[in-house]
Amino acid sequence: MSWLEGRIVENRHWTESLFSLRVEGPALDFQAGQFVRIALDIQGERVARAFSFVNPPHDPVLEFYGVVVPEGPLSPRLARLKAGDVLHVASNPAGFLVLREVPDCETLWLVATGTGIAPFLSILRTDAPWQRFRNVVLVHAARYGRELVYQDTVSDLSRKTAFRYVSFVSRERHPGSLEGRIPAAIADGRLEKAAGVALDAASSHVMLCGNPQMLTDAQAALGGLGMRKHRRRNPGHITVESFW
Ligand SMILES: Cc1cc2nc3c(=O)[nH]c(=O)nc-3n(C[C@H](O)[C@H](O)[C@H](O)COP(=O)(O)OP(=O)(O)OC[C@H]3O[C@@H](n4cnc5c(N)ncnc54)[C@H](O)[C@@H]3O)c2cc1C
Ligand SMILES: NC(=O)c1ccc[n+]([C@@H]2O[C@H](COP(=O)([O-])OP(=O)(O)OC[C@H]3O[C@@H](n4cnc5c(N)ncnc54)[C@H](OP(=O)(O)O)[C@@H]3O)[C@@H](O)[C@H]2O)c1
Repeated sequence: MSWLEGRIVENRHWTESLFSLRVEGPALDFQAGQFVRIALDIQGERVARAFSFVNPPHDPVLEFYGVVVPEGPLSPRLARLKAGDVLHVASNPAGFLVLREVPDCETLWLVATGTGIAPFLSILRTDAPWQRFRNVVLVHAARYGRELVYQDTVSDLSRKTAFRYVSFVSRERHPGSLEGRIPAAIADGRLEKAAGVALDAASSHVMLCGNPQMLTDAQAALGGLGMRKHRRRNPGHITVESFW
């Protein structure tokens, strides 16, 4: 692995703690859904963290979506980057949250908390989901309505008949979004009802990304519907990626 030098072209702030970096320079070979380590030199040390690509592979400008973890070493500094600043990008993207690992089925569910929406935006901006699945459901949970980011992309995607979008807002009432958390809504049927398509082992594959406790709780809820983790040697219905 080597480090490539990127230049920030834009740092968009959605809220005081949510930001999207657009980065020019590194030409990387990756699949939609993968991540790469990005780094800054802090007090003489290179501090690197994994970030999922938001951009699809055919877009030469890299995009990353992040949240400020106030006590974290890297994310507060990433949030302060300005156009023209340098960002180090590793040369070796990786990760298994990719459609190549997903068996054919009728409905693809892309289920995220917080910044976990990032890899799904990359996947949704490629042709593969629309060629392979009859229904594609994006589910995004955030604490507050203002954190339901990338609504411009959601609007563009909504022109596709296969696309459904369900949002959750957990810490305030927000018109158009479900209340509470994803796992409870899987268990009591609210998610399926809101999406208007069946969520079951016969028709669905679920990709989960974000908060590790959500991954655990959602897998338990999906287990109640007869769904299990997908493995190459033992095909199932759930693929996961934990962000911490
Ligand atoms: C495969 C993979 C892909 C990732 N992709 C992204 C991404 O696209 N966007 C992104 O913001 N982060 C992503 N992360 C997390 C990222 O690598 C960093 O951990 C995060 O930016 C915080 O860095 P830090 O150095 O400030 O704090 P760290 O020391 O890395 O983390 C401190 C604590 O912050 C919390 N935390 C970390 N990441 C998040 C998060 N994303 N949302 C909420 N709480 C968090 C956890 O409690 C963690 O223990 C990914 C992680 C992995 C393993
Ligand atoms: N989001 C902010 O306003 C904010 C602001 C500044 C800093 N930060 C930092 O960012 C981190 C949190 O970021 P975040 O809000 O994107 O992530 P998060 O804490 O993972 O919350 C995102 C969504 O996931 C839900 N969730 C949490 N645990 C779950 C579980 N077990 N099952 C199902 N859903 C679950 C949350 O619901 P609940 O609300 O019910 O937990 C929320 O709707 C913290 O380190 C915080 O310090 C966040």
